[in-house]
Amino acid sequence: MRGCFVTGTDTGVGKTVVAAGLARLLVERGHRVGVMKPIETGCEAASGGELPHDGRLLAEAADIQGDRQWVVPCRYSEPLAPLVAARREGRAVDFEAIWRAWEHLKTHYEWALVEGAGGLSVPISPKYTMADLARELDLPVLIVARPVLGTLNHTYLTVHYARSKGLSVVGIVISGYDANTANVAERTNPEMLEELCELPVLGCVPRRATIETAEEAARAVSEGVNVERFIARCAGPLPT
Ligand SMILES: Nc1ncnc2c1ncn2[C@@H]1O[C@H](COP(=O)(O)OP(=O)(O)O)[C@@H](O)[C@H]1O
Ligand SMILES: [Mg+2]
Repeated sequence: MRGCFVTGTDTGVGKTVVAAGLARLLVERGHRVGVMKPIETGCEAASGGELPHDGRLLAEAADIQGDRQWVVPCRYSEPLAPLVAARREGRAVDFEAIWRAWEHLKTHYEWALVEGAGGLSVPISPKYTMADLARELDLPVLIVARPVLGTLNHTYLTVHYARSKGLSVVGIVISGYDANTANVAERTNPEMLEELCELPVLGCVPRRATIETAEEAARAVSEGVNVERFIARCAGPLPT
């Protein structure tokens, strides 16, 4: 299975935009792309037919038609880390539903783009984090990072944690970069990240006024990210 687990240095960094943009760009190149957001929190309805926000954008991007219920197998209403939401709702994360959705995806698609929730060390169940889930799915991770001062630390810590969990890292994508207003830190971060993390920065997604549709995500990602290099990196083999 070709693909990656899209994680980030934080929540709200641009994981969904990057994952949706990449999914659409792969579809445009003729690939059959399955998408999944295994656990989405902050969903208006914890169950039901309509997909929640992230799942909907991913499904729209990958042009998933009949089988959309598989995209977000586990949902919680409060916008919290999965384990916290699970405890407050008195309902543990449904791993069986996640594995059923994953089997479905693997059976029907050649590519998988899976979006985590929050960052890699976010807890899903006691002693089980997003990194453990990425490892069990057997996917390398793509790290979405902010462009600003502070990102060297956040990104390096994420890479270090990923490696400590035995994960391979496809690369880093910086999200929300504005070339017109970038300060010294923002201009020097991509090169410094490559040196510090010994990983490729696959590109900087430009900052737009808003990104609300899969099409807008795809256009922004294609402007900043080297998609062919991303595809090649996902073909591995990558060192852990
Ligand atoms: N390059 C960008 N330009 C403008 N807005 C962006 C960009 N990337 C993300 N956003 C916006 O920032 C917010 C958080 O992005 P999102 O992809 O949902 O982050 P995450 O999935 O990491 O929580 C969303 O409202 C999204 O539309
Ligand atoms: Mg998201």
